[in-house]
Amino acid sequence: MASKNMEDLVSLCKRRGFIFQSSEIYGGLQGIYDYGPLGVELKNNLKSSWWKSMIYDRDDVEGLDASILTSRHVLKYSGHEDTFSDPLVDCRNCKNRFRSDQATDGKCPACGSSDLTEPRPFNLMFKTTVGPVDDGSNYAYLRPETAQQIFTNFKNILDSTSKTIPFGIAQIGKAFRNEVTPGKFIFRVREFEQMELEFFVEPGKDDEWHKYWVDKRYSWWIDQGISEKRLKKLDVEDADLSHYSKATVDLMYEFPHGVEELEGIANRTDFDLGSHSKNQEDYQIDAKVIKNNESNEKLVFTDSETNETYIPYVIEPSAGVERGMLAILNEAYNEEVLENGKKRTLLKLKPHLSPVKVAVIPLKKNDEKIVSYAKEIKKKIQGLNIGRVVLENTGNIGKSYRKHDEIGTPVCLTIDFDSLENNSFTKRDRDTMKQERIDIETLIKQINKS
Ligand code: GAP
Repeated sequence: MASKNMEDLVSLCKRRGFIFQSSEIYGGLQGIYDYGPLGVELKNNLKSSWWKSMIYDRDDVEGLDASILTSRHVLKYSGHEDTFSDPLVDCRNCKNRFRSDQATDGKCPACGSSDLTEPRPFNLMFKTTVGPVDDGSNYAYLRPETAQQIFTNFKNILDSTSKTIPFGIAQIGKAFRNEVTPGKFIFRVREFEQMELEFFVEPGKDDEWHKYWVDKRYSWWIDQGISEKRLKKLDVEDADLSHYSKATVDLMYEFPHGVEELEGIANRTDFDLGSHSKNQEDYQIDAKVIKNNESNEKLVFTDSETNETYIPYVIEPSAGVERGMLAILNEAYNEEVLENGKKRTLLKLKPHLSPVKVAVIPLKKNDEKIVSYAKEIKKKIQGLNIGRVVLENTGNIGKSYRKHDEIGTPVCLTIDFDSLENNSFTKRDRDTMKQERIDIETLIKQINKS
């Protein structure tokens, strides 16, 4: 079962401390969110899972953490200065401003008036000044995607790691877009994080690598708990392809508000390395690039066996962290009616994503012996490095179970008087609610195995 509607998720996220509207006490900043104590854990767990699958589990991908502030030259040659815009329309009647595709039958989505301006391009990049003097020339952008600094670091990484084609560079980090109409909770926001891989391949081998990454990314999302029935692959039509793409497959997820893109996997051809290279005329570049007289590097690869030098093609799986969180929360959300007629809300998160891995609950809030034993157990389990372990000392076991069901904690341990005698405690499973008596050694073995 998934959530029935977005309101369930929004309310749970606020109530339990996953996600808050940014600057809320001053009325909020639209399209910007803050991630609370549980949100930051879920986000970190999702990003770690991606990083592990992209870098640690492979031998052909390196990591990068490049700057957010980006030289305008980078975003000129990437095409963003010219093309990264949405067509904007104003309603003369109610002064509403919206993307032209939101006008149905040429009418304002807010008031229904047909008195609209012609669409005009609105660039989505945030611009800022670098240094103390604002003379109009020393501006930079907050990056609209993490990809570009991967391309500009291509040579640095190639030279410092002795990688050969095919290989990839992966990065997770913030991206900023001044979306005309942010909305649908954290689905379309102005500040978000991307998990992007740029995988460099020999021209001619790009189609097979594209297919490889589409399948790989699809199964990774399934491993995060996304159900196959809500995740579909969509071949993007030629007319809808980005200026750099030869082919793109979008992974489309059935969010509570509708089916929309979770991740895109694009064949970016030799557009990016070709665009950012000097001496472009010395190489065969298949993509249409603008002449670059400002770069001081050739972003090429020389095959040591054939001695051939060429501009690699790029396959790019690009996923949004927030959209991933929304999909995962949606999948995990469950409401059950218990035998006693009461309702139980639970997040059936995969344990590796759960913000809290184990909750240790003393039976008596004020019993010094029980509480100090519980603290000891908490410390021991925390030492296993499995993620966050909490001491839940409310003195109300039922309430603690309800809370941890709702935030997706897979295991609760209750410490009682017997624990002091025989070093065992009650382990309660989130999904089945089954309880068993277990000692610390057995628990540690179970955790190490999982
Ligand atoms: N480098 C390619 C690129 O940025 P994109 O389709 O514009 O491609 C990739 O973005 C992913 O980033 C999307 O599939 C989505 O998950 C996420 N994303 C893009 N814009 C977003 C926004 N305004 N809010 C939240 N996530 C966004």
